Amino acid sequence: NKKISIAIDGPAAAGKSTVAKIVAEGLEYIYIDTGAMYRALTYKAITNQIDIKNETELMKILNDSAIELLPGKAGQIVLLDGGDVTNDIRTSEVTNNVSVVAAHEAVRKEMVKRQQRFAEQGGVVMDGRDIGTHVLPNAEVKVFLLASVEERAQRRHSENIQKGYPSDLEILKQEIAQRDKFDSEREVAPLKKAKDAIEIDTTSLSIQQVVDQIMKLALERI
Ligand code: C5P
Repeated sequence: NKKISIAIDGPAAAGKSTVAKIVAEGLEYIYIDTGAMYRALTYKAITNQIDIKNETELMKILNDSAIELLPGKAGQIVLLDGGDVTNDIRTSEVTNNVSVVAAHEAVRKEMVKRQQRFAEQGGVVMDGRDIGTHVLPNAEVKVFLLASVEERAQRRHSENIQKGYPSDLEILKQEIAQRDKFDSEREVAPLKKAKDAIEIDTTSLSIQQVVDQIMKLALERI
């Protein structure tokens, strides 16, 4: 059996990690959430009171940081310098600052290098913003997941409520739209569909329907 690479890109809260995880499990592939890496660096910068606009300072801490993504029972576990930051990287403070951190060219260069190393052996499902365009330009399967801002905010809102987190639908809508705008308009490797990516609008699809579509694409190429 050939081990292929699957790239899943798309805007914030489009369900990328949910479907990527299920596809990876189904194929017994490694799942790599690249957003978690940018989030881990953002978390470390905030914790160390580093100015996230200062690329030199960010690079100092990044070059000194071990970011590990491990499979766990309830999803992926993120270790930063050996400590579990899985939940710490999902706060709204991190979410609302991560795009600034991820816009720096030097930061991206280092992250992409690490991501390509994770994918060296093939057999990966990787999700992010620039996987099909920059990280894995030769991926056998490239998917671009879309959904309306309303739908994405609503999904995140329901998820928050289910977890018992405070949540405001209107604020979520604004934050998601803002992050997409920033990620799409940055100069280095902006959020963009790769020319050869298959677009899937998930607005009125179930998780299973999206998974089935991606599985079908994958099995055709294995
Ligand atoms: O996927 P997630 O929403 O966790 O990503 C958080 C942020 O990390 C994105 O809004 C984006 O700024 C950045 N990111 C990126 N490139 C990736 C993955 C994430 O710039 N491949």
